Amino acid sequence: MTARTDTAEEPAARAGTSGYAVTLRGIRKQFGSSVAVEDLDLDVRPGEFLTLLGPSGCGKTTTLNMVAGFLTPDGGRILLDGQDVHRLPPDRRDTAMVFQQYALFPHLTVGQNVGYGLRMRKRPKADIQVRVAGALDRVGLAGYEDRMPGQLSGGQQQRVALARAIVVEPKVLLFDEPLSNLDLKLREQLRLEIKHLQRELGTTSIFVTHDQTEALVMSDRIAVMRAGRVEQLDTPETIYREPVNAFVAGFIGQSNLVPGICTEAGPDGCTVRLSTSDTLRARHAGTVAEGEAVQVLLRPEALRLGAAGDGHGEGAATPITGRVVEIVNEGSLATVVLETAGSGRLRVSVPDPGAIGLPTPGDEIAVSVPPGTAHALPAGR
Ligand SMILES: Nc1ncnc2c1ncn2[C@@H]1O[C@H](COP(=O)(O)OP(=O)(O)O)[C@@H](O)[C@H]1O
Ligand SMILES: [Mg+2]
Repeated sequence: MTARTDTAEEPAARAGTSGYAVTLRGIRKQFGSSVAVEDLDLDVRPGEFLTLLGPSGCGKTTTLNMVAGFLTPDGGRILLDGQDVHRLPPDRRDTAMVFQQYALFPHLTVGQNVGYGLRMRKRPKADIQVRVAGALDRVGLAGYEDRMPGQLSGGQQQRVALARAIVVEPKVLLFDEPLSNLDLKLREQLRLEIKHLQRELGTTSIFVTHDQTEALVMSDRIAVMRAGRVEQLDTPETIYREPVNAFVAGFIGQSNLVPGICTEAGPDGCTVRLSTSDTLRARHAGTVAEGEAVQVLLRPEALRLGAAGDGHGEGAATPITGRVVEIVNEGSLATVVLETAGSGRLRVSVPDPGAIGLPTPGDEIAVSVPPGTAHALPAGR
């Protein structure tokens, strides 16, 4: 990231600008004696789509509301475009929020709802009309100006809320679980629409969700949160492939975590002894050391039915044996659940199960761990 250059309109007052669109430093928020957000740091790049992902109650909404100015932090600093916004009320922060519950004015038309922010900013009437029409067009509701919100479906109401947010051309768009009230099909469609719209507009966006798929599909980077803190901030690919701990691994994607001891660790991986005395080569992020207890992350889709040498993959795949306890066949994908000696239950994903045939519950089978697929994490976090 290159530092941005201040222009003539944005002079010395902005010295020290980090080049980030949004910066949170040591943000803290407490409600009574309960800490909602604790010592939280976050840098959002200009034009980036960043998602705060975490379980209910981990502080996502509180964080977003502090950026918007609806809540005041108890400590720490918030910078928008390098400017400390501590004293700025929400309407002067140049952010716009899309809420889970649409939050439209029921007695105003769609056009009046979308144009509300522009009227507050005292824009000329003709200008408002043009901009409202443009924003509605962008969200696929061209010509809906005179409808009432109550006449629209949930998905359409959320599109109106989206139009209302983008019409003011905010510096930062904030989304608080905007798709959570919609049914799956619509959610999947709107995910992509919002993502494409954000790309087109290039508006820096912070998106809050507890839905990992949403986060993976939409984000440039994901901040995985737990108990008021950021556990990991990275691209979806890195978070999926190299989670920093078991919490992140468990929150993103399906995961098998197998306990073991690290017997050797080097820059290109480590060796882990499982409780069965079998050993396994694993990647690691420099976070495990020789002699340490570890958990090995084995993604279900990386495991292969059958022992190594059955023609599945190259190199020294490590076999693990166990008894099949359950099979969930969804047609295009099946999950085989295995009870192993010493490694607990393992889930193995089998794509196109019709083509290869599945074992049956009770069968003793082997699964193999292809080289390069296991990832070691420090145990106990
Ligand atoms: N206005 C409030 N008063 C008291 N506790 C609150 C308030 N808002 C949030 N909390 C608490 O702060 C924590 C974080 O809440 P929140 O930010 O809403 O989490 P999330 O959006 O991740 O589900 C939770 O424990 C929640 O109960
Ligand atoms: Mg929330």
